[in-house]
Amino acid sequence: MKTTTRHFKKMLMGGVIAATLVTYVAFAGPLGLPPLPVPANNPITPEKVKLGDKLFHDKRFSNTGEVSCATCHDREKGFADGLPVSEGINKLKGTRNAPTVINAAYLHTQFWDGREPTLEAQSAGPFINPVEMALPNHEPILKIVRTDPEYVDLFKKAFAKTGNQITMKEVEQAIASFERTLIAGNSPFDRYFYGGDKNAMSPAAIRGLDVFINQGRCVSCHVIEQTQALFTDNRFHMIGASAQQMPKDLDELAAAVEDVKKKGTDIAVLSNEKTSSLGRFAVTRDLTDIGAFKTSTLRNIALTAPYLHDGSLKTLEEVVQFYNNGGRVKETDPVPELLSGGIRPLNLSKEQQADLVEFLKALTSPEFVKK
Ligand code: HEC
Ligand code: HEC
Repeated sequence: MKTTTRHFKKMLMGGVIAATLVTYVAFAGPLGLPPLPVPANNPITPEKVKLGDKLFHDKRFSNTGEVSCATCHDREKGFADGLPVSEGINKLKGTRNAPTVINAAYLHTQFWDGREPTLEAQSAGPFINPVEMALPNHEPILKIVRTDPEYVDLFKKAFAKTGNQITMKEVEQAIASFERTLIAGNSPFDRYFYGGDKNAMSPAAIRGLDVFINQGRCVSCHVIEQTQALFTDNRFHMIGASAQQMPKDLDELAAAVEDVKKKGTDIAVLSNEKTSSLGRFAVTRDLTDIGAFKTSTLRNIALTAPYLHDGSLKTLEEVVQFYNNGGRVKETDPVPELLSGGIRPLNLSKEQQADLVEFLKALTSPEFVKK
């Protein structure tokens, strides 16, 4: 909670500095991050954040009473879970790796396939996904928050609502408000690149930044701008992960689409590897989106191994090697079909690859550096 409160105070001191979109109000962020977009219909207040924090950590909102949002988005693990693919109730495995929630407030869409537009909309899914918290519907949550004295008090303070006036809308708004305080910049890279501190990054990381921008061309998707860097273009690309799982022919593709139609995207993609491997296609049904996933932010990436949407790569060294091989684990693997244009062999030397890893490690924010 300490970092949360500190950021929150800082954000308030920043005040309203710009209106980015009609419905968003923006607050100044830490070094290297853009102003934080906050929906005008859900302003952040300390009361909402406190409530959202409690909801995020409450295991009672799962079928077994053992899983909360924080089970898979654990502060100690960079708000991820350290597993290749997440485990929900009764250790049931999903199909995808848990992304960090840090800085998710900046993303234009949520989930690897961008199937939800906002943090508010995102937060309703896990409660009722059979491999996550597995409630039959949202009623058990409402029953608890309308009667538990602590929640009654918190909802009164945050929303001036009691009893049946409390709906999932307020639950979602409070969780999203809490997540909007999980903002972290000011990494060694930020202090070097934006803060003018030439000693903030090691010589190897400085060389790695050069590879990131030039020969590696990482920056074409993991964007760095003049005054800020989110390390994502908020777009979707097929970089080669899960190539083995992808439907082999039109029949398999049709079966996967049927699966999505029948179960709904959220449940279908997390319960079936083949359906999951479709990526953005499951949302848009646009053939050019097959196998395309959202460009990840790379901030605090050293904390959230293993990597990629399927958790298939264990270390940053492996990720860099994968890109160096043009989207393949081994140079001898077949070139995946439908690969994004930006992904091809990079011919980086061993030293360049090691430097690139050092650069990625310089993206960790000070509040998450392990002491
Ligand atoms: C069982 C583990 C698990 C639980 C419980 C869980 N999540 Fe997640 N979370 C994941 C996984 C896995 C994904 C990626 C799924 C996908 O993209 O299809 C994800 C994605 C997200 C994202 C999107 C981040 C991004 O970069 O797109 C947010 C935000 C998030 N979860 C918040 C929450 C909240 C809030 C809760 C509680 C209501 C919650 N999660 C519960 C595993 C979990
Ligand atoms: C064509 C766009 C593109 C380029 C170029 C690119 N990336 Fe990525 N990157 C992505 C996408 C999309 C993902 C998520 C893909 C997935 O999981 O299927 C990703 C994922 C990652 C991840 C794992 C993130 C996580 O949370 O698991 C790392 C690390 C990474 N990229 C580093 C790099 C580096 C280093 C380079 C340059 C050598 C690079 N990327 C070049 C688009 C790109």
